[in-house]
Amino acid sequence: MSEETTPYNGPERVFSGVQPTGNLHLGNYLGALKKFVALQHEHDCLFCVVDWHAITMPYDIGALKTNTRQIAAAYLASGLDPNKAIIFAQSSVTAHVELAWYFNCVARMGWLERMTQFKEKAGKDKERASVGLFDYPVLQAADILAYKATHVPVGEDQKQHLELSRDIADKFNRDFDAPGFFPMPEPLIKGPGARVMSLKDASKKMSKSDPSDLSRINLTDDADAMAKKIKKAKTDPEPLPATLEELADRPEARNLVGIYAALKGCGDQDVLNEYGGQGFGTFKPALSEVVVESLSPVTQKFNDWLAEPDAIDEVLRNGGEKAAEIADPIISDVRDIVGLWKSA
Ligand code: TYM
Repeated sequence: MSEETTPYNGPERVFSGVQPTGNLHLGNYLGALKKFVALQHEHDCLFCVVDWHAITMPYDIGALKTNTRQIAAAYLASGLDPNKAIIFAQSSVTAHVELAWYFNCVARMGWLERMTQFKEKAGKDKERASVGLFDYPVLQAADILAYKATHVPVGEDQKQHLELSRDIADKFNRDFDAPGFFPMPEPLIKGPGARVMSLKDASKKMSKSDPSDLSRINLTDDADAMAKKIKKAKTDPEPLPATLEELADRPEARNLVGIYAALKGCGDQDVLNEYGGQGFGTFKPALSEVVVESLSPVTQKFNDWLAEPDAIDEVLRNGGEKAAEIADPIISDVRDIVGLWKSA
């Protein structure tokens, strides 16, 4: 798709979201939450718990509210400050679903049919998948563009969805002759931790839905469980190499070195400078120490927040109000642009 001719010249804004579907893990922390915390100091940020996305697959109705609070608690425990960033639940701002409808009329079936995440999640029997699951990336585009967000911190698995958001924004601007109305949201993916792999199979990403709990480190794991999982992580028999070239075709070793580097805020080469030539018998305990040292304070604060559900609800309520104040005038403009009878 060709680049837009009239660039967006509104303010910069950061948006991202996490689904309330089960325990958060080290991949979510490094690929998303840790980046969110760093961004809140210098940008206007909105961080959402995307509960409408969570109902696109079979789910436990009774657990959804608790899971939503859990993600908000993880945001807060990771260091997001509700006085700096807007923290809210997607379902508290109806602008998301309204904009998703307009975008449904802009996005093309063929675009959505190419989405690999839909193919993975729908499995073999895609005829039985919900329409919501198919439409999931359109709602994601609406999440971002309801705030005219310009930057979206995510892990690498969201790259294709972000490309679709850009295509939708571009086509909307063209179809409705509204050049520069929506920005082309930029994914912020680069950096350590953008793709944390399973501890049991480094060809698969670390995932909430992996049936083996040993494949991931959960934010709810205690120090012993974290250490045990690292001890049992799959590796090869060779000692760690001295160079990145030698590390390149050793996926398990690369994953563990990457986790160490991401948590320490250094490069993979720095880790090799320290541990090159040493075996996993030395490196794994060092990695455990770094993981426990980095995640224990988060786990502790997470549990503290979970003990205060009313305080979490207060954060979400305030955040929802602030988010709606930004989204409502944008939706009002969109109604005008698409030619509806009533603009507000
Ligand atoms: P979700 O809930 O699956 O994951 C939340 C975030 O964690 C990142 N992530 C990872 N990063 C590194 N390594 C991994 N193994 C790993 N696993 C997950 C994801 O990339 C994501 O950043 N569709 C989104 C939620 C969403 C959204 C949005 C994101 C809905 N609307 C608008 C950004 C903007 C999702 O399912 O994330």
